Amino acid sequence: MSGETESASGADNGDAPAAEPLTFDTTVAHSARVHDYWLGGKDHYAADRAAGDAVIAAYPGIVESVRANRAFLARVVRFLAAEAGIRQFLDIGTGVPTANNTHEVAQSVASDCRVVYVDYDPVVLVHARALLAGSPEGATDYIDADLREPETILEQAARTLDLSRPVAVMLIAIMHLIGDDAEPYRLVARLTDAAAPGSYLALSQVASDIQAEQMAEAARRYNSLARETQRHRNRAEVTRFFDGLDLVEPGVVPVQEWRPGSVAEASARSAMWGGVARKR
Ligand SMILES: C[S@@+](CC[C@H](N)C(=O)[O-])C[C@H]1O[C@@H](n2cnc3c(N)ncnc32)[C@H](O)[C@@H]1O
Repeated sequence: MSGETESASGADNGDAPAAEPLTFDTTVAHSARVHDYWLGGKDHYAADRAAGDAVIAAYPGIVESVRANRAFLARVVRFLAAEAGIRQFLDIGTGVPTANNTHEVAQSVASDCRVVYVDYDPVVLVHARALLAGSPEGATDYIDADLREPETILEQAARTLDLSRPVAVMLIAIMHLIGDDAEPYRLVARLTDAAAPGSYLALSQVASDIQAEQMAEAARRYNSLARETQRHRNRAEVTRFFDGLDLVEPGVVPVQEWRPGSVAEASARSAMWGGVARKR
């Protein structure tokens, strides 16, 4: 996709009485497209690049940080499939597909893994068909829905996932896009409450207390240019998302410190907290 005059995708974000739907608008930055820009993808517009560059100017480590988060995502999925025996994944805030998407990592461990992706961005929706090409033994589905409407997500996820059996609820690099007014802790609890015992929550989000001054300036600049504003959170605020669940080692840590697979992964820098926890 390219060009500033691209017509609206016609994406339907569902009946969203409580949450304002995300429409296709190239004149203002969208988180999925800015993220794609930082990761070196091709699905972004001038407004996305301007917001992305404004953040880079405030916090030059942002590209390394989002890469460290992607590596975290892959390690978490591998851990869940290979060590925790999880075969069902609900990945909310999918983003524009890139390397090591959840179904690729999960199905490389166990080809019968079932993965449901959820996002509300029309650009991600355009890629959904390609995302659906998983292994023949497993299943991959895509839901065009808003995290602020967890009931819709749970209802539609049940087409592909058996929610009476353990599932991994994945909220990777999305919660900083959910402001306090949307009751982020209630949203996460609604999803984990609906999950069976033995399920997992995997979550990462941008930190307010790592490189604090740079991150505060990055948030100010991003929020003045983007459609969805960012709410950075400190370690205690991120840990609170896991209340009532059992955090697996090493707990809530900078994403590169979560079970790094190599010295290179461990020595990356990020301004993101991440963790994984199990529901009893
Ligand atoms: C920063 S990207 C993260 C992508 C991927 N999870 C990763 O970690 O690489 C955040 C994604 O969350 C999506 N998103 C933000 N708010 C959302 C909401 N309220 N409901 C559904 N998706 C949302 C955006 O469209 C974007 O694709």
